[in-house]
Amino acid sequence: MCGIVGIVGNSAVSQRLVEALKRLEYRGYDSSGVATLNEGRLDRRRAEGKLFNLETKLAALPLGGTIGIAHTRWATHGAPTEINAHPHFVGGVAVVHNGIIENFSEIKDELIAGGATFVTQTDTEVVAQLLARLRREGLAPRAAMQAMLARVTGAYALAVLFDDLPDAILAARSGPPLAIGHGRGEMFLGSDAIALSPFTNDITYLIDGDWAVLSQTGVEIFDRAGNPVSRPRQVSQAAAYLVDKGNHRHFMEKEIYEQPEVISHALGHYVDFIENRVRPSAAAIDFAAISSLAMSACGTAYLAGLIGKYWFERYARLPVEIDVASEFRYRDIPLSPASAALFISQSGETADTLASLRYCREAGLTIGTVVNARESSMARESDAVFPIMAGPEIGVASTKAFTCQLAVLAALAIGAGRARGTVSAEEEQALVRHLVEMPRIMARVLNAIQPDMESLSRELSRCRDVLYLGRGTAYPLALEGALKLKEISYIHAEGYAAGELKHGPIALIDENMPVIVIAPHDRFFDKTVSNMQEVAARGGRIVFITDEKGAAASKLATMRTIVLPTVDELIAPMIFSLPIQLIAYHTAVFMGTDVDQPRNLAKSVTVE
Ligand code: G6P
Repeated sequence: MCGIVGIVGNSAVSQRLVEALKRLEYRGYDSSGVATLNEGRLDRRRAEGKLFNLETKLAALPLGGTIGIAHTRWATHGAPTEINAHPHFVGGVAVVHNGIIENFSEIKDELIAGGATFVTQTDTEVVAQLLARLRREGLAPRAAMQAMLARVTGAYALAVLFDDLPDAILAARSGPPLAIGHGRGEMFLGSDAIALSPFTNDITYLIDGDWAVLSQTGVEIFDRAGNPVSRPRQVSQAAAYLVDKGNHRHFMEKEIYEQPEVISHALGHYVDFIENRVRPSAAAIDFAAISSLAMSACGTAYLAGLIGKYWFERYARLPVEIDVASEFRYRDIPLSPASAALFISQSGETADTLASLRYCREAGLTIGTVVNARESSMARESDAVFPIMAGPEIGVASTKAFTCQLAVLAALAIGAGRARGTVSAEEEQALVRHLVEMPRIMARVLNAIQPDMESLSRELSRCRDVLYLGRGTAYPLALEGALKLKEISYIHAEGYAAGELKHGPIALIDENMPVIVIAPHDRFFDKTVSNMQEVAARGGRIVFITDEKGAAASKLATMRTIVLPTVDELIAPMIFSLPIQLIAYHTAVFMGTDVDQPRNLAKSVTVE
C-alpha cells in the first residue's frame, strides 16, 4: 500500500526522506517520488519501480531543501508510470496521497469544466488541482486545505506542500494511518512509526477526520470542523525492532525462522507456563455471556480465523460466523448484541476489516481484535485487544503473524471453553501443555525439514499448477498453502477440502499435477488417505505431509513424504504451517521472484 513520509527539517531532507521510504518498502509499491521546497521553489524526482531507481535519479540530480514530502505508490488509479507517481504538482501545490478519493471523477469533471488540464490518470491529482484552484480563488493554504477536505470523500492520508508556505507541511487523515514524529527542532510525518524510527520514537497519531500543520517547532492539529484538538504523544516501540534481514537472504526467510521465538512471546502473554493455565487477561471478552461469535478478516488472517472457528466450536461449543471482511461488511448479517465480534489483522489497518469492525460496533457487539500493530486503528477501536507479539513482519507474504495469530486464537478458544464450562481444569492444563511444547517442536522441525524442502521446491518450480488438500483444520491450512505459493512464486495453486476433491478438482488430476496432501494422523486421517487413493489412481503426483504415525499407517506410493513429529491435534496447524511456508519460500527463490515484495501485492491494504 502507498507510503507517505514528510520532514520539516533543520538540514537537508531528500536523503532522509528516501531512508524513511525504505522502511515502508514492506507495504508494497511500484513507483516512488520525493519533492522538496527550496527557496520558494518546488522540485521533485520520481521513478518507476524500486527505490533504487529514485536514488539513482537523486544522485544524478540532487534536490536541495530542508522541507519535503515523499511517497511510495501502489497503483490503484492509473498504471505505475513516472507521470502517475507522486508527488503531484499543480500551480505551486505538491501532494502525496495514500488511499482512494471516491468522488474524484465528479470533482475532476467540474475542474475540467472550469478549465483545468489533468496530466495523470490518478485520483490524487484532483486533490492537487482542487487545492490549486482554491488558492487561485484567494484562499490561504490552511483555508484551502480545509475547503478541499470538505469536498473530497473516501479513505485517504495526505501530505501537502505549498510553495508560498516555506516552513510547513499540511497533513490529513481519513482512513489510512498517519504518525507525526516529534524531533529536536524538526518534525516528521509517516504512514507508520517504523518509517520514523531512525528520527524519533516520540509519536502522535492523527485520528480519522484530523488535519494538521507541521512546522519545525511543533504540530497544530484540527478536527474536521477546524477546531484545534490535542492528541496524545506516546513512545513508539517501533524503533526497538531492527528492520534488518540478519543473516537471511530475505525477510520472509528470517520471519519463518523467527517463529519459535515469537510464538513463545505470544504464548507468554496468554498462558501461565507454571500453572499451565490460560491467563485471565485472555478473558477480556466475556465468553460465558455470549451466544455466538462473529469473526472476520482478510487474506492470511482470514485463514487463521477459519482455523480459530474449528477451535471455538470444538473447545468452547461456541457457534462462529466467519467471512472475509469484504463480504462480511456488506452481507446484512443479522447480528445480535448477545454476540461478540473478533477481528484478526496483522496491520490493524486493512480497510475492509476495519469497516467490518465498525459495522459490528454499530450493531452493539463487544469488539475484540487479534492484532500485531498495537498502535493501529483496529486496536484503538476495540473493547479488547489481543496482541500477537510477532514483531514487525516485513515480508508481504505473512508467516510469523499467521502462526502467532493461531497461537493466540488457540489460547482464547481454550479460555472461552473454561469460561463456558466446556473445558475442565484438567483438560485446560493438558491443552496448555501442548501449546507450551510448540516453540521447541517448531525449532526442531525447521532444522529437520530444510534440505527436503529445497529439493521438493526445485521440482515444484517446474510445475504450472499445484493442488493442496486437507480436512478439519488442515483444510484452511491447504487454502493457506495454496495462497502462499501463488502469492510469491506466481504458480497457480488451489486449496480444497479433501472431501470436495470428487466434486470438481479431481477432473484436473493427471501425471503433471502435484497434489500436496496435509494429513496429520488425526480423526480425519483415514478419510484423507482414501482421497489420496483417488488421486493416486489417476496418476497424480502426491506430496504427503504427515506425521510419524501417519507415515507408518499409510502404504501409498508418493512422490515425496514429509514426516513431522506426531503432536496433539490442537497444535498441528502451527507445526504443519512450517513446511507449507518453506515450500512457498524455496519455490519462489528457485523461480527468481521478488520474494519479499511480490508483484501487485501490498502488505497493508488500506483501500476497499
Ligand atoms: C494483504 C497481505 C496479506 C494479509 C492481508 C490482510 O493481502 O498481503 O499478507 O494477510 O492483507 O492483512 P492484515 O494486516 O489485516 O492481516
